[in-house]
Amino acid sequence: MREWQKETVYQIYPRSFQDSNGDGIGDINGIISRLDYLQKLGIGLIWLTPMYRSPGNDNGYDIADYYQIDPVFGTMEDFENLLNEAHKRNIKIIMDMVLNHTSNENHWFQEALKSKDNPYHDFYIWKDPVGGHEPNNWVSKFSGSAWKYVPKLDQYYLHLYDVTMPDLNWRNEKLRNKIFKMLKYWAAKGIDGFRLDVINNISKDKEMPNDTFATPLDDGRNFYTNGPHVHEYIHEMYEKVFGPNNFVTVGELSSTPISEAIKYTNPNRQELSMAFTFHHVKVDYTNGNKWTLGQYKLSDLTRILSDWQVKMNAHGGWNALFWNNHDQPRAISRFTNDTKYRDQSAKLLAMVEFGLQGTPYIYQGDEIAMKNAYFTDIKQYNDHESINAYNELLKNGVAKEKAIKILQQKSRENARLPMQWNSQKNYGFTTGQPWLKPLHHDDYSVEKVLKMKNNVFDFYRALIFLRKHKQILINGQYKLLNSQDNSVYSYERINNKGKILVMANFTDQMQERKIANGFDLLLGNYEGIKLNKGTVTLRPYESVMLEK
Ligand code: NOJ
Repeated sequence: MREWQKETVYQIYPRSFQDSNGDGIGDINGIISRLDYLQKLGIGLIWLTPMYRSPGNDNGYDIADYYQIDPVFGTMEDFENLLNEAHKRNIKIIMDMVLNHTSNENHWFQEALKSKDNPYHDFYIWKDPVGGHEPNNWVSKFSGSAWKYVPKLDQYYLHLYDVTMPDLNWRNEKLRNKIFKMLKYWAAKGIDGFRLDVINNISKDKEMPNDTFATPLDDGRNFYTNGPHVHEYIHEMYEKVFGPNNFVTVGELSSTPISEAIKYTNPNRQELSMAFTFHHVKVDYTNGNKWTLGQYKLSDLTRILSDWQVKMNAHGGWNALFWNNHDQPRAISRFTNDTKYRDQSAKLLAMVEFGLQGTPYIYQGDEIAMKNAYFTDIKQYNDHESINAYNELLKNGVAKEKAIKILQQKSRENARLPMQWNSQKNYGFTTGQPWLKPLHHDDYSVEKVLKMKNNVFDFYRALIFLRKHKQILINGQYKLLNSQDNSVYSYERINNKGKILVMANFTDQMQERKIANGFDLLLGNYEGIKLNKGTVTLRPYESVMLEK
């Protein structure tokens, strides 16, 4: 077993975590002030989303200078201090690293714009117009064409994301060397690993053909996802940086089949430690379309999760387990019940996640059952992806009210609300004007939750503790029970010493299920579960972890 495999990762979205200087934006000193809280929770690693210098068009995923901390978050000294303080508490720090694209304000791109002969020009992906138009029909993940015309050069550059985020050309060896040098700079600071943003998109098909749009999911992604040289490039980073520094790495691998995820994460291949994949959080898309009012069937969700569990395990792959992150609406609002059964739901989701094989991630606020923002006006959104999607919906004839409803359900801004620390102004997140409006009407906060009996925070602590002390949760074989069940998700983990059974009722009705004899209760989200002769009756959103 690798040491980190029994640890839990906590994701911090610094902008929304804790502001220390009253400018309304969370910062590094704010994070430092909350390290004791995180230590109490019991996590072993923190993943920090980007804090490099950036114009902030995509909240830091548009990097203008890889070597600097953005002043809104603090200084390099603050960062080094954070690293030190985290290490003192035995917490590792994983930095987010964005290597598929930069900001258009990055020095490399500014040079690239100067002329076709500039040495930096080839650091990006340029194409001449075809018949006066875009070089192909690929669509940006932030809506519209993936190409932007630059009149001065009479060329288009590729941007798979925002128009201000040009894609890097990994075929260029000089660029790769610059990247390796920069990764070594951060390694030398003493960080413990990287979360690699959309890393499976870095190697594009050389021909860049038009997409046929044969399926609703097609938008060009077949020609750049898990592209021809991606494994080579990642292995090169492993040899030069990840391996020698004993890094924990997690790749963000959207639209990736299991066979590829195995390649990225099987330790024999020396690429990444683990994989974030997204099939389970697309279960409520309608025909692959995110921007719809979606519904999901529990049996679809459990089928997807189970497929990943079984196949990754069989071939030496390793899953990163999560329900939430800064790109997803809150799972509690999406898959369970965030009102009457709010606490039970938060605990149920945590239990289902922590019982699976892989490394569990907690996204800030999960541990206090934070829920969706449910904004009622497009003006409340900052996020370009959400605003573009809204405009596109209206353009396609969707009524305003419905478009807002869709955003309430699907927008990632839902997860970016400031962290709710206490009952003071702005939940103690800032003394100034918060960059994103908090809910105000939600009375959940860290302060309140910690005072509650059997609270969600303590439930997470218990799960984190169990993962550290029960080998079976790390290495036990996974088995789905009742694949057709649309109300209760039941699975087992099995090793040569015993069994763990997880049962989670995803409905607001009582559910009775048969179970084998001999199980004892390890953890449950209600008080006093009754295990009666071969059956268990689960109350609304009840979940149990049993052992024998
Ligand atoms: C994935 C990040 O998680 C997301 O927030 C960002 O917009 C895109 N990559 C582009 O960097």
